[in-house]
Amino acid sequence: MSMTYYDRVAEAAASLKGRLCGVTPQIAIVLGSGLGAVAAAVEQPLIVPYGEIPHFPQSTVEGHTGRIVAGRLNGAPVVVLQGRVHFYEGYTPEQVTFPMRVLGALGVRAVVLTNAAGGIAEGYRQGQLVLLADHINQMGWNPLCGPNEPRFGFCKGAGLRFFDMTEAYSKALRALAHDAAGEEGFSLAEGIYLATPGPSFETPAEVRAFRTLGATLVGMSTVPETIVARHMGVEVLGISCVTNLAAGLSAAPLSHEEVSETGRQVERQLAALLSRLAPKIAAHLEATA
Ligand code: HPA
Repeated sequence: MSMTYYDRVAEAAASLKGRLCGVTPQIAIVLGSGLGAVAAAVEQPLIVPYGEIPHFPQSTVEGHTGRIVAGRLNGAPVVVLQGRVHFYEGYTPEQVTFPMRVLGALGVRAVVLTNAAGGIAEGYRQGQLVLLADHINQMGWNPLCGPNEPRFGFCKGAGLRFFDMTEAYSKALRALAHDAAGEEGFSLAEGIYLATPGPSFETPAEVRAFRTLGATLVGMSTVPETIVARHMGVEVLGISCVTNLAAGLSAAPLSHEEVSETGRQVERQLAALLSRLAPKIAAHLEATA
């Protein structure tokens, strides 16, 4: 008999737990396109390539490495996912959210989801970091369609068929991120992230439509992960790097090279931000345990 999805998640989590030598961080960080430097800031890193974890999907995108780096960030235990898989690569919604499920099964209680995004709002500049205040799901699907699996409710009140999304992106975590940015000498805007399936970038007409809908950022990830994280009762902080102005808002055509290049310019700042942030999140989780 074939394993259920839940069983595959449990097997992957058990395998990863074994590889992490009993270290079970409560904070996870998922790194988006070109934002890998954060992984290098992890102290005493234990590295596990995705290929060595049973059932774990492999990224096919350039700039997405595909490994787990566990250790301490500024003293706080963290597990970093360097590279994610996307729907446009041909993965199913269940595969796209498999790593997030494994993190939940590991005991993670807060996740920082980072991504590269096109900037839609007036006044965004290339290279700016923006906190997600909310999202708009334009993927055309929801990863929770199908039978509900209540065993994914790893904390009290989670794992429900229907659940609230009014604070998908934790206000408390956003406040900590603003504090951390302030200590680093910069400020963070807050925006609304709209997710498309990709892989083509948007047309200028789509960007105008998305602006009308209330989006200030557009990208091809994060939203499915946020949905399953919230299903599991995991707190979410979303951070977009505005790697480019969205289509039609600048004269230059968009390219993956531009996205990667801007990511490279910002990844040190992101690493500094997340290093400040990790112990604050750890203290927050301690206080809300
Ligand atoms: N659109 C969609 N996804 C993106 C973009 C964009 O302009 N930039 C980086 N990821």
